[in-house]
Amino acid sequence: MSVTGNQRQIYLRLVASLRPHFRTDVNLPERIQKLLAREKRFGSRDRRLYRELIYTTVRYLPWVEPLLDQDSERAAATVAWLSVRNKATASYRTELTSGWPDCPEKLSNKAAHLEQDPKVLLPNWISAECPEALATKELDVLNRRAPLWLRLQTPDLDIVTDEFDENGWSWKISPIKPDAIEVTSESNVTDSKSYRHGVFEVQDLGSQLILETNQIEAGGHWLDACAGAGGKSLQLSRMLGTEGKLAVHDIRESAIDELLERAERAGLENIVIPANPTQDHYDGVLIDAPCSGSGTWRRSPHLKWVTTTEDIAEFARVQLSLLEEYADCVNPGGQMVYATCSLNHRENQGVVASFLDRRKDYAMTPPFRDFGYTPSPLGLNILPARYDTDGFFVATMRRR
Ligand SMILES: C[S@@+](CC[C@H](N)C(=O)[O-])C[C@H]1O[C@@H](n2cnc3c(N)ncnc32)[C@H](O)[C@@H]1O
Repeated sequence: MSVTGNQRQIYLRLVASLRPHFRTDVNLPERIQKLLAREKRFGSRDRRLYRELIYTTVRYLPWVEPLLDQDSERAAATVAWLSVRNKATASYRTELTSGWPDCPEKLSNKAAHLEQDPKVLLPNWISAECPEALATKELDVLNRRAPLWLRLQTPDLDIVTDEFDENGWSWKISPIKPDAIEVTSESNVTDSKSYRHGVFEVQDLGSQLILETNQIEAGGHWLDACAGAGGKSLQLSRMLGTEGKLAVHDIRESAIDELLERAERAGLENIVIPANPTQDHYDGVLIDAPCSGSGTWRRSPHLKWVTTTEDIAEFARVQLSLLEEYADCVNPGGQMVYATCSLNHRENQGVVASFLDRRKDYAMTPPFRDFGYTPSPLGLNILPARYDTDGFFVATMRRR
């Protein structure tokens, strides 16, 4: 059998073993990781090829599933055609799709070529939860792999760009945020010297914009109540500066350990871990709440198929309870910043409306900067298409 024929067989075997889990397993990425790690004869390029093919299958599942049942060779060729062209996939794609036109950039053109409906690539419930996501430009971006964004932790851009140039990695600076860099070529940025020295962090541009929509004064005392491994904490810590103080909390202790490691790498010294975060008072509290993650479908396409409307209702309940838990910790005149990486109105504007209904001592504040997004009276949707990002939501409420 030819090399490509053999690769196609392997792809079909891997997908057959994953198929029962595509629409049920919230931890599908870990399952895929383990599956690929078990294949001892795979080199790193093989793993990159099969990972890309599997993720393409999940991203376009409603288009690919019927083909897998009817004509597995056609399914494999379709997935190859839809996959991203890079060093790992190039020859496989070329051989399996010879005679096909080049795969177009736009989803609507891909759909037209395959005689498919682009809207089925999002779950049915999205039309009620976030109809904006069905606009052609959003659909297009939501079904494309996310770019790689970095956030600089130094004013000296050259430290990073000199190293990237030496490695032959191409990059560009965001026109709206001069310390955000997009890496536009294949790269391994976390292996770089600048990364090891804390000169930058990997963080989606949309995530970087959340804090930028707020007026955060240097020298303030803030709490990041759902800090996780610190994506936003590190950014907030820099905004507060050496005179400021940032308390961080998360129910996952292992995430806080990782946050502290990253803070040390970045040389940040204003981060503290409160013994009881709800006992203190702060100038601002950030609730970057657990959510359905519908804004991260570009990176985690399986969430499109495993998330149910019951899950969304449960997230909204937890989100509201987090806001209520921390509402008394904000000093009068201080800010409560509520953020999610969800597109769903029920988890976003819906939660904010319920909170404001219960806490008359809070009022909405318009965004300090809106970056051209359209603010609603209950917060700002950071939709993916405008700057090619993940999707987020942010609302700032001031305590009277
Ligand atoms: C969206 S993630 C936070 C991401 C993080 N802020 C960042 O920028 O990388 C939500 C976090 O909330 C945490 N979490 C869930 N329930 C919580 C609770 N009751 N109190 C505090 N943290 C909670 C989760 O462990 C998770 O790390």
